[in-house]
This record gives sequence, structure tokens and C-alpha cells, in this order.
Amino acid sequence: SWTTTNVVEESIAAIREQVGTKRAICGLSGGVDSAVAAALVQRAIGDQLTCVYVDHGLMRKGESEQVEKDFVAVTGVQLKVVDAEERFLTALAGVSDPEEKRKIIGREFIRVFEQAQAELVAEAGAAGEAVEFLVQGTLYPDVVESGGGTGTANIKSHHNVGGLPDDLEFELIEPLRRLFKDEVRMVGQELGLPDEIVQRQPFPGPGLGIRIVGEVTKERLDLLREADAIAREELTAAGLDRDIWQCPVVLLADVRSVGVQGDGRTYGHPIVLRPVSSEDAMTADWSRLPYDVLSRISTRITNEVDEVNRVVLDITSKPPGTIEWE
Ligand code: XMP
Repeated sequence: SWTTTNVVEESIAAIREQVGTKRAICGLSGGVDSAVAAALVQRAIGDQLTCVYVDHGLMRKGESEQVEKDFVAVTGVQLKVVDAEERFLTALAGVSDPEEKRKIIGREFIRVFEQAQAELVAEAGAAGEAVEFLVQGTLYPDVVESGGGTGTANIKSHHNVGGLPDDLEFELIEPLRRLFKDEVRMVGQELGLPDEIVQRQPFPGPGLGIRIVGEVTKERLDLLREADAIAREELTAAGLDRDIWQCPVVLLADVRSVGVQGDGRTYGHPIVLRPVSSEDAMTADWSRLPYDVLSRISTRITNEVDEVNRVVLDITSKPPGTIEWE
């Protein structure tokens, strides 16, 4: 019968059998799936697993710390962190077009990840150990979507940024490929992962890079990170985390409007709140958040975030609007 304990125990046995004494690598994105997959494989093979986390500088406030400290503290996993903020910001300089941004972020991500992976393979090789396995957090819906193929590296192009060099052959470990999202969360819980990781709302791979309408710069990212953190804090405090699917917070960096703050006139940027309810992100409706919560978010963002003098609410369903603005 289906219990999370059975699923965990069976997976651990299967992974041990598959990997033997060899080594495995897993990319962490900060999302639920890769975290649960990594935790499960770590439980099975311990230090034979190394995780790689590429920090592209487009993460939300506290997210890198969550991967680098909290996840490691709970699982004891070996982690290689690549600080690639400079590289991503340089590559994104001067670019405003959404598709162009996505392409650049995806391309840079693959390069950095491949390089880290090659370094790990080389290090292990020097120690006389073979790295033959790559862990992926593929879920059952992903398997169905991509036609059920297995055995080779098969990476979702839209929803995961990642990829494999042609000359490196890895066998895949996909411990979640028979599970749905809610089951993955239960497995994560069973493995002792904290709620902040297990109950995390979806967040796009390109991160805040596609939540700045206009060019992505360090200053704008810092500003959006602040606004986003405030919105998340207030939604959490109001107990609304699980009622909404997600709430993108968007900076309209190329738009300015007049305001009055403190002693005088300001000419600042608007922040958009995009709270949505959804079953699967294919369609969505805008969430009817309580006015007092919206009011607190607005007051705090305009008070606490420099250069933001207006907060607006997106009341568009999907379709016609997408959940993200880019
Ligand atoms: P849209 O904006 O298409 O978003 O309505 C649907 C869902 O997908 C997420 N999303 C992404 N996730 N990489 C991801 O991993 C991406 O490039 C990406 N773009 C959108 C979005 O947050 C929403 O949950």
C-alpha cells in the first residue's frame, strides 16, 4: 500500500542498488523537487552524492541561504556553491527583451553548471572514483508530458534550466518520477525537510530576472528583493501562503510616476502584486486577498523600499495574462 514511509524505504533501496559504490551529482535549484530528490539520494548513498548550487544573483531574499545553510544543516549533504552573480549580471547588461533574458539566463546557467559538474567529475576521477549518475527531480507529470522517455538525460526545456554536455554520459537517478507534487511534499516532510522548503510555492528558474520589466541591474534586483520579501512576510503573517498558488512581485523599472512622500514630490517606480490561485498554473485566477493585507503590503513597500512610490494590483486571470509578467 502507498505510504510515504514505504516510498522512501523502497526508493532508498533502489538507489543503493543502482549506484553501488559509484558517485552521483545533483543540481539544486532552490525548488521543492530538486531538494527532495537530493535529500532522498543523500539518505541512500550519503557522501557518494555531491550537490551543485548555482547562485545566479536572481534569487529572492534569503533563498541562497536556505540552500547553503538550512538544507545542508538538515541533510548533511555535500554541496558545491558557485557564485555566478557577476557573470549573469554582465551577460544581462543592456537587455530588456523577455525572451532574450530567458535565453541568456538559460545559456549561462548551463555553462556554469557544466563547468562545476566537470570539475567534480575531475576531482572524483583524481581520487579514483567514477561519477556516473545524475540526480534529477523529475515528477510523474513531467514524465507524461515528455512522452515517458527514460534512461538518458532528458531535461524539461521550459520549467528547468539545466542540461548536459554531449561528451559526458550520465545515467539518471529520478527517484520522484512516479510521484505527484503533493506526494513529493509528503516525502520531503518524511525526510525531515523544513516547511520553508517543502511547502514552497513555485518560483521560475530565471528568478527575479523575469520580474523586472526592463533591464536587469544589481540595484533593481536589490530593490525588488526588498519589495518581494515584504510581500512574502505579510502574506505569511496573514496565513495566506497555502491559499494562493504564488504571488509574483514585479518591478516596472522602465515606468515612473509622480508621488508625494515625506517632504516632497517623488518620481519613482511602481511595484505590481500578482497573487494568483491555480491548480496547475495552466490557468489561474487573481486571488481576492483581504484589503487589510494588501494595505499593509502597500504601506510597507512604499515606506521601506527606496524609489518605489506606488503599489498596484494585477487583477487579470490567465488567460489572457500569464502568471509571470515576462
Ligand atoms: P506563466 O507565466 O507561463 O507561468 O503563466 C506558469 C508557471 O510557470 C512558472 N514559470 C517558470 N518556471 N522556469 C520555471 O522553472 C521558467 O522559465 C518559468 N516561467 C514561468 C511560473 O512561475 C508559473 O508558476
